[in-house]
Amino acid sequence: MTIKPTTTIRIDLDVKKRAGEVFDEIGIGMSAAINTFLKAVVREGTMPFDIKTEHPKLQKSGNATLNRAFIIKKDEFYTQYEDVAREMVKHRERLKGKTILCNCDDPFESAFFRFFVLHFNKIGLAGLTSTCYAGSPMAGREYPLEGGTGAYKAVVTEVPDEPLVRPDGSLDLQSLFAMQGNSLVHLAGDGDFRSDECEALLKEADIVATNPPFSLFREYISLLEHHKKDFIILGNMNAVTCKEVFPLFRDNKVWYGESIRSGDRKFYVPDGYPLNAAGCGIDERGRRFIRVKGVRWFTNLDTNRRHEPITLTQHFTPDEYPRYENYDAINVGRTQDIPVDYDGVMGVPITFLDKYSPDQFEIVMLANGNARTNVSSKTLTEVRYRPHSEDRGGVGIINGRRVYARILIRRKSS
Ligand SMILES: C[S@@+](CC[C@H](N)C(=O)[O-])C[C@H]1O[C@@H](n2cnc3c(N)ncnc32)[C@H](O)[C@@H]1O
Repeated sequence: MTIKPTTTIRIDLDVKKRAGEVFDEIGIGMSAAINTFLKAVVREGTMPFDIKTEHPKLQKSGNATLNRAFIIKKDEFYTQYEDVAREMVKHRERLKGKTILCNCDDPFESAFFRFFVLHFNKIGLAGLTSTCYAGSPMAGREYPLEGGTGAYKAVVTEVPDEPLVRPDGSLDLQSLFAMQGNSLVHLAGDGDFRSDECEALLKEADIVATNPPFSLFREYISLLEHHKKDFIILGNMNAVTCKEVFPLFRDNKVWYGESIRSGDRKFYVPDGYPLNAAGCGIDERGRRFIRVKGVRWFTNLDTNRRHEPITLTQHFTPDEYPRYENYDAINVGRTQDIPVDYDGVMGVPITFLDKYSPDQFEIVMLANGNARTNVSSKTLTEVRYRPHSEDRGGVGIINGRRVYARILIRRKSS
């Protein structure tokens, strides 16, 4: 029998809360995170990272520079043009006549801005606004503006018919901003998407398309939901299990986009970003890139894909589909094994969302460690949830053991 001693650690409440939010997004608990850290110390025989103080200048001022080293590490991933293009062309009809906002962007580095400028006339966009956050290490590198906070806004309402791409592949921004309907100006604040001026831009826009900072994804999508905005944004599927995001999937207010369903994605990262994981590297143009797993487009624009039913071939047998001890539902290990002939509630893996069609199934709830607190008592009663000593707040139990987090679904009556 292994003995796991309990250790009491004194942690600053605010640090604990903020770290907890990060771990929530990654999908691990506080003890697992602390254990990982301790194992790394043992493995490396020293602290597993450099201990530095924050730059004094960065500690002082507002949001843009707050804990910048941390933000840069976690949030500065630049999307590949091909990834943006592959998704956006699928929504072409819905983008027509619309004003697009890219509010976590840098108009000069971003593939979003480039795509929308290059397809402005073809799609028939009404406008494009892109804002750059002062905290971005890319801010002002390509096209520096005199003075200001480093945060700026590019507004495009017209694009010339002549090609805008220069021989070196960059956009001819001088010609673009020389056009009467276009402008490039400083923002008054730091370009935080939560600032009043950026929220005002959000209210004016029809559709938001961007890759928001991973660490603020929940807050970001909640703001879009609050303003009832249409959006196509990049995120990580880990975010699905958060209490702010899962209900949006359950209520069919958000779903995955058309184009990314598996594998990893390449993202550019700023100079100096550590390339210590497999698959990272430097491309032929000297740009650093990393590969990130679990990336998905999150959207509320209807897609063809979400109306394609899953082809089901398996049949229910009590042996192959055991019941949970704490829910009135059966466990289905893989989405493709959902039985064709079972009408009750079924627990499926989170990856079910890659194939989910609301025409075929209804999402009932998320059975994870937060179910007891996050799910309404009406729903818990409906699935006949009974607390189990081992379920840590609502994880499904089979033979006395916890299974992974499961989405409880039910077939839609035809
Ligand atoms: C994941 S990157 C994506 C950048 C770009 N849209 C792309 O994909 O090429 C997120 C961007 O949001 C910026 N950012 C970080 N915090 C922000 C905030 N609070 N408000 C607005 N932008 C923010 C970062 O500086 C970064 O440029």
